[in-house]
Amino acid sequence: MAAMLDGDLFGDNDAGVRHPLGAQAWVLRGVALPCMAQVRQGLDAVLAQAPFRAMHTPSGLPMSVALTSCGSLGWHSDERGYRYVHRDPVTDLPWPAIPPAWLALALQAAEEAGFAGFAPDACLVNRYVPGARMSLHQDKNEADLSAPVVSVSLGMSAVFLWGGHARSDQAARVALHHGDVVVWGGVDRLRFHGVMPLPDAPHPSLGRQRINLTFRHAGRPGAI
Ligand code: SIN
Ligand code: FE2
Repeated sequence: MAAMLDGDLFGDNDAGVRHPLGAQAWVLRGVALPCMAQVRQGLDAVLAQAPFRAMHTPSGLPMSVALTSCGSLGWHSDERGYRYVHRDPVTDLPWPAIPPAWLALALQAAEEAGFAGFAPDACLVNRYVPGARMSLHQDKNEADLSAPVVSVSLGMSAVFLWGGHARSDQAARVALHHGDVVVWGGVDRLRFHGVMPLPDAPHPSLGRQRINLTFRHAGRPGAI
């Protein structure tokens, strides 16, 4: 299918449409658009307290994506490995709180995808510039894998890679646009996923960047 080859598996302009990616994984088109002004305000507030920083993989390779976090746990990577930490290693302060509008959006999207009662304690904020990518990986540093991952796309469009349970499984290409939300959990919680190198197509309001918010429950099951 030609549309699949250029990464546009589902097409544009379908806000409100839900596409299944698996038995418990969904692309929810445009779910973040109605609350975008508040989501953008939340981003400004988080970045004022915890700016984006460059990180390295445990093997010392620079990551092309810049990161920060909010919530009671934030994600960190260095030569000691990938892990969640309670304080921002850059400022030595607790991570900023998850903005209320972000929490409401994450809960709404999780519920729409069949995960009522989602209580995220961590939100990773990724910033992609043209050419930045994220190789296929599983989100498995979280203590609580019974909770889904909720992933919100802002700014430039990207091609999301949606793989299987083995790294070598063929990955589908899914175009993600400003305001789209992907939710995966349950039997699909450990699916490999990634992002192709970001094409250089500036976004009308966010410019030459793509911001991705991923909400998880990273701490012990039941704890917030
Ligand atoms: C991630 O897997 O952590 C990020 C996914 C994305 O940027 O869409
Ligand atoms: Fe991930």
